[in-house]
Amino acid sequence: MIIPTFNESENICNVLKSIKEHLPKIDLEAIVVDDNSPDGTGKIVEEYIKSMKNMAGYSISIIHRKVKEGLSSAILDGLKSSKGDIVVVMDSDLSHPPQIIPKMLDILKQTQCDIVVASRYVTGGAIHGWPFKRKLMSKVATKIAKKGLGVTANDPMSGFFAFRRKIIDGLKFDAIGYKMLLELLVKTKGVKVEEIPYTFTNRKFGSSKLDTSVIFDYCKSVWKLYRYGRTVRKDERRTSVRFLSKAARFFTVGASGLGVNYLASLLFSSSLDMWYIHATILGIMFSISSNFVLNKYWTFEDRDFTPKRTAIQYGKFVGFSSIGALVQLGMVYYLVDGFSLSYPIALVLAVGTAAFSNFILNKKWTFKEKVWS
Ligand code: GDD
Ligand code: MN
Repeated sequence: MIIPTFNESENICNVLKSIKEHLPKIDLEAIVVDDNSPDGTGKIVEEYIKSMKNMAGYSISIIHRKVKEGLSSAILDGLKSSKGDIVVVMDSDLSHPPQIIPKMLDILKQTQCDIVVASRYVTGGAIHGWPFKRKLMSKVATKIAKKGLGVTANDPMSGFFAFRRKIIDGLKFDAIGYKMLLELLVKTKGVKVEEIPYTFTNRKFGSSKLDTSVIFDYCKSVWKLYRYGRTVRKDERRTSVRFLSKAARFFTVGASGLGVNYLASLLFSSSLDMWYIHATILGIMFSISSNFVLNKYWTFEDRDFTPKRTAIQYGKFVGFSSIGALVQLGMVYYLVDGFSLSYPIALVLAVGTAAFSNFILNKKWTFKEKVWS
C-alpha cells in the first residue's frame, strides 16, 4: 500500500487502522510518503508505527521527504521502496473507502488482469460532497484523457488503484502533478484493466491540495504523454515501412536541393553581379547545406544540433555528396561509352544509383543508423 500524505494529521491514523481492519488475513506493507507536512503528520505516523510494532502481518513505514514535491512523485518514491508484487495506491484522507480493497485484490486474482481502477464513473460509482466546479473539472480532464490519449478506462483520474508491480518493469515515469494512474495507463497500454465502482466522499478534515498548479501540471502531463504515444506508435511500424518512408524523405530533400541550387545560383549571379562560375559553386554549396539540415532534422529525425556533432556530420555529408557526384559521372561515362546506352537512360540509372547509395551511406555513417531500420 502506498499512501502519500501532506497535512493529514487528522486522517492518517484512521486510514492506517481501517486498512488493516479490512485486510486482516493479508501480509500488509503500508508505506506512508510524507512531504514534511507542517501539521506534524510525519511525527504522528512515527508514533503510530511505534504503537503498532508488534502487530503481526502489518508493517508500516514512512518516507520523509524534505519538501512538497507533488503527489505523483510521492507515489513513485513509495513504489521504489515497496516490496510486494501487488501495489495499492490510495489517498490518506478517507475519500477512498478501504472496504473495497479486498474486492480490488480479488479481481486482480480472479480475472488475471494487471490493473484494477476504483472508479467513480462506472455504474454504481459516485462522488459525494464535491462542488459543481470540481465535478466539471474532473469530467473535462477525463474526457481529455480518453479522447486525446486513447485511454479506455472510465476513471483514469482516479487516485485509487491496484496493479501488479511487474507491469512497470523498465518504465520511466515523468511523475508530474497528480495523475499517476493516467501515466501508468498510457505507458502500459495493452495490459488488462478492470474497474470497480466506488463512492468518493469528500474529506471531513483538512483541505484538498489540488490547486491551479495541478491544472497546469495536468496539461503538461497530457502533452508529454501525447508525444510519448506518438513515438511508441512510430517505433511499432514495420521496418520496411520505416525504411521506405525515410528513403522517400531523402529523395524529396534531394529534389528540393535542385530548386535551392537553381534559385541560389541565379540570385548570386544576377543580384550580386557575380561571375557565373562562382555563382554556381555557391549555389551547389547552398543546396548541399540545406539538404544536410533537412535530412538531419526531418529524414533522420536527429535533432541534436551540438556544434561538434553537427560539424562532423556535415563533413561526412559533404564527403558522401562528392562521392555520389563522382559515382554518377563515372556511371554515365561507362554506360554511354561502354554499353552505348542512350544518354537519358544512362542518366536516370546513374542518378538513381548515386542517390540510393548516398542515402545508404549517410544513413549508416553520417547518422549512425542501422541500414535496415
Ligand atoms: N506526499 C505528498 N506530497 N502527498 C500529497 C501531495 C504532495 O505534494 N499532494 C497531495 N498529497 C496527498 C494528500 O495528502 C492526499 O492524501 C492525497 O495526496 C490526495 O490529495 P487531495 O488534496 O486530498 O486530493 P483531492 O481529494 O482533491 O483529489 C483526489 O481525488 C481525485 C479524484 O479521485 C486525488 O486522489 C486525485 O489524484 C484524484 O484525481
Ligand atoms: Mn482528497
